[in-house]
Amino acid sequence: MIKCSNRSDIPTFLALEGMRKAQELEAAGHDIIHLEIGQPSTAAPEAVTQALVASVADTGTHGYSLPLGVPALRDAIAQHYQSQYGYNTDRRALAVTVGSSTAFALAFLTAFDVGDKVALPTPGYPAYRNLMLALGIEPVALPARAEEGWMPALEEMEKWDELPAGLIIASPHNPTGVVLSEAELKEICDWCHKHKVRLISDEIYHGLAYDKPTQTAALYNEDAIIISGFSKYYSMTGWRLGWMVMPCDLRGTIENLLANLFISSPTMNQLGAVAAFSATEELDAHVARYRENRDILLYGLHPAFLGNHAPCDGAFYLYADVSALTDDSLSFAKALIEEEGVAVTSGVDFDPEKGHHFVRLSFAGKTADMREAVRRINRFTERLLSPQQKSA
Ligand SMILES: Cc1ncc(COP(=O)(O)O)c(C=O)c1O
Repeated sequence: MIKCSNRSDIPTFLALEGMRKAQELEAAGHDIIHLEIGQPSTAAPEAVTQALVASVADTGTHGYSLPLGVPALRDAIAQHYQSQYGYNTDRRALAVTVGSSTAFALAFLTAFDVGDKVALPTPGYPAYRNLMLALGIEPVALPARAEEGWMPALEEMEKWDELPAGLIIASPHNPTGVVLSEAELKEICDWCHKHKVRLISDEIYHGLAYDKPTQTAALYNEDAIIISGFSKYYSMTGWRLGWMVMPCDLRGTIENLLANLFISSPTMNQLGAVAAFSATEELDAHVARYRENRDILLYGLHPAFLGNHAPCDGAFYLYADVSALTDDSLSFAKALIEEEGVAVTSGVDFDPEKGHHFVRLSFAGKTADMREAVRRINRFTERLLSPQQKSA
């Protein structure tokens, strides 16, 4: 047998695996409602598409860009930080990446060594943990449970044998939809500064907060690595464009690694993305739809399915507590797609320990799909209810 690496043998990304299965069923003629994956059903903003078409017509733009990205895009991102958050930055601090996903690889490789521990609020986005495992970094679960308002328990880390080298936060959060207040964000930033813990702030869901404003951690912690991108609010998942606001001490190593790993992000897509920051009206209409979608699920789904669900104040996820119906959310999700054609993701993706009691529903799709999903999920739930639950 020829050798394969052990470190690449990481857990499956269940949400994407679910998308693959759902697409297979669809190709075989089944009518599937996609609530399994966090991706808008809408296209990129019209202005972005037009800018892309213009760059395709200009054959001078078909080559690599500078590793850190097209200067016009980095300037537009800097301008966005000024107008959105009142944070002054410039293109020297900004790297454009192939989706925010590759920004995590760059952050982990430049900030941590093999064997370092990094704290991950749990439940949380599975790729952080899986990527760390592949890189020899040790992810350490930091509980963020319903009983604590789904907030990461910072004090827990002070009880550990050693403090972690890093902490990752995301606000708005996937899968819980928790949005940190400015005071809560500042408290985390200050804690990391005080304890010399490198903060990585995943801000990919900024723009998708329904009642509270979102603020960038860049304002409160100059050592933090800020990661964001065009996939979610900007409705551009397939364009594979993200960015980092790099702290001073990592700029050189990030640029060097980025050049060696990717050379550059797709140049024409970057030229299209410059127009994204002026598409606010079109994009805010999507946010209004997500809010309506969320409310359709929250008010329409059977209480036994929703359980003690997470807040849904931001992002586009409902993390439902299905413990009244199952102890095995993997089989539950499988039965739901097979019996009713509704694809959801098991909570095990986000929390290997307690996720068996949860499923995540993405409400980034069409409003009509949400209404139909409620009908089908409620039918499914009714079949699982015990006589006592029915009479309660
Ligand atoms: C919390 C979080 N961070 C990062 C990403 C990666 O997004 P992308 O690589 O498309 O920018 C996702 C995608 O679902 C996510 O949920």
